[in-house]
Amino acid sequence: MTTSQPHHEYVSELHRRIYGSEAKTLAAAPGRANLIGEHVDYCDGLVMPFAIDRYSHVTASASPQWHIYSTAHADDGVISGNDHPDWTRYVHGVQSSLADWGYHCGAAQVVIDSHVPPGAGLSSSAALTCSVLRALIALYDLDVPVNEQIEIAQRVETHYVGMPCGPLDQSASLLSRFGHILLYDCRDRSVDYIPFDPPSHGLELMLIDTRAPHRLVDAEYADRRHSAEDAARRLGIPSLRSARSEAWKDIADPIVSRRARHVVTELERVHATIAALRAEDFSTVGSLLNAAHDSLRDDYEVSSIELDSAQEAAHRAGALGARMIGGGFGGSVIALVPADRSDHVAASVSEAAGERGLPEPDIMTAAPAHGSLHLSTT
Ligand code: GLA
Repeated sequence: MTTSQPHHEYVSELHRRIYGSEAKTLAAAPGRANLIGEHVDYCDGLVMPFAIDRYSHVTASASPQWHIYSTAHADDGVISGNDHPDWTRYVHGVQSSLADWGYHCGAAQVVIDSHVPPGAGLSSSAALTCSVLRALIALYDLDVPVNEQIEIAQRVETHYVGMPCGPLDQSASLLSRFGHILLYDCRDRSVDYIPFDPPSHGLELMLIDTRAPHRLVDAEYADRRHSAEDAARRLGIPSLRSARSEAWKDIADPIVSRRARHVVTELERVHATIAALRAEDFSTVGSLLNAAHDSLRDDYEVSSIELDSAQEAAHRAGALGARMIGGGFGGSVIALVPADRSDHVAASVSEAAGERGLPEPDIMTAAPAHGSLHLSTT
């Protein structure tokens, strides 16, 4: 892509070049960060994500059979007909998942170009799935309520890819609003928004991609989800969302008890964060982020040396708070930083990684961006 050319123009031009005609529809969906509410979405919890300004763009035109081109797999060329390399599950899975919900769409000529970095814990796969979903919905003129879109996109992961995730990433990608934190209730699916514009408070939201290799993420993730469900069963409740304060003390198994403690205290931290954000009390928000990191590291055991290094260094260098985001075992740390400390925080995080022989982190400033967009249909 030339730097002066907007992303959507680039992908439309690619479509024209590859298929020899204009794309019928163009859609985009972003990656996400999560302010707080980690590993609670599959426990019916409340999450507080926001879209980041990195999108997956998808063009589509109706066609008798599938033709799929992705710039991330340019060496594969256009994948046609019955050829199904692994990465195309995110496209075919959308068609199948729509059908599971009773929405039938045909095949398409598709071009995918994503700027959401893979492996950074910023939900590149939800961005891809949601952008394909939005493109097919527009192309085949389907009337799918947004809460069903979230479930359809989530089912692509749980059923067609095999990742037993909750609805955090898909809700963030589909529902986020510019300048706001999304408040998504995974139990009753209700939606609220809290305005959040860090620069107007002299703050910066920093995303630190540790660039660490993901290790055993899927198996460890499934294991945590299993423990959380086991804890709810032992307590005789539908999910840990219904647990009363300190309910984990009634669970004899020490590992299940500690994991339940993470979920229950994280849900309490979400409520405290909502109150602190509404009161514009950002130092309390920062302390809650630090406490969430400690809980994810010690009770849920989903952190890593790289994440701990970035979190500690950011905190020591003056961040109001910092924590790992997403599933863990690699990926990114979010830090809430006074704007005048941000260079120092970034330098300290890089230096700490260097001293420990860890990869040089990739650091960017984030701000709540637009959720998925249906950009055009011709
Ligand atoms: C991954 C999953 C989400 C969520 C987070 C942890 O990103 O895809 O559903 O469980 O981990 O909060």
